[in-house]
Amino acid sequence: MSDLTSGGSSAADHEESTRRYYESGDVDAFYDAVWGGEDIHVGVYAHPHEAIAGASHRTVQHAADRVADLLGPDATVLDLGSGYGGSARALAERFGCRVVAVDLSEEHNRRHRAANTRRGLDGLIEVVTGSLNHLPYEAERFDVVWSLEVLCHVEDRDGALAEAVRVLRPGGALVFSDIMAAEETPARAIRPALSRLGVQSLATPSSYLETLSALGLKSDFEDRSADLATHYARLEQEVRGRTPELRGAISPAYLDDLLANLPLWTDITRRGLLRWGLFHARRTASRSPGAERRPASPTAGRPDPAAGAH
Ligand SMILES: C[S@@+](CC[C@H](N)C(=O)[O-])C[C@H]1O[C@@H](n2cnc3c(N)ncnc32)[C@H](O)[C@@H]1O
Repeated sequence: MSDLTSGGSSAADHEESTRRYYESGDVDAFYDAVWGGEDIHVGVYAHPHEAIAGASHRTVQHAADRVADLLGPDATVLDLGSGYGGSARALAERFGCRVVAVDLSEEHNRRHRAANTRRGLDGLIEVVTGSLNHLPYEAERFDVVWSLEVLCHVEDRDGALAEAVRVLRPGGALVFSDIMAAEETPARAIRPALSRLGVQSLATPSSYLETLSALGLKSDFEDRSADLATHYARLEQEVRGRTPELRGAISPAYLDDLLANLPLWTDITRRGLLRWGLFHARRTASRSPGAERRPASPTAGRPDPAAGAH
């Protein structure tokens, strides 16, 4: 896989590098052909040979089950790093709720809006170009904040979680999945994963639980690391088994990168060096101090009026 390590060191450089990575045509072609082009996250597998797209969709429904009590036509979800919008559409269709979907990538947002239009969901889903580190929303606006496999791309994860909690209403829920390091894993042992994700380090389950507790949330972690190993084994099988067909859709350099790197991911996930699972955290029903704080930045992450809603 391509290395998206940033040349510069600032958060803005890092975001730009992430955005460029996700907007490369090869990445889209890979996600379309191998992942199903709807959900871009680790699947919850019913069996080890299951189709990747079906398992990835099960992840969405599984996460949605955890917050189903909060969702209905009057509720609004904020989806951070919404990708092609698989989660946003599934939530809007299942619960009739509104979804505000924020992603850095214009290309993902363009595809996301087009899919919403095809499914008649424009009226429920607002797609916004911006960064989850600078949310241009007032405090306590959302019933549920949702984010599947995005924080592993972000250097300031504590800041991102603080922003997510700031915009969550008292009694609301934060639900997210992420690829993490196992507690004792040294960075050198997971170098291919760090390089692919463009970050210096990964969170661990306990580091997230500590951050959530410090933010005043009651949280639990469902460890589904076995699904991560299955997922990378399935990606490797698909790319190896379908190489001739994929050569028509993906550039030779990107495909060769995939063929070289996926086995490294399969190996480090099989050896238990990475973790994956679902966090479910709730804000207490009373207001927390600082909830009235203004959005973090008056300019950064402002919704793109041209891209705007839908
Ligand atoms: C692995 S994909 C997951 C997409 C989607 N959550 C899903 O599950 O299908 C990661 C997404 O996060 C977005 N992303 C990465 N860093 C971001 C940031 N700082 N703010 C907003 N979006 C970001 C990328 O553009 C990409 O669409």
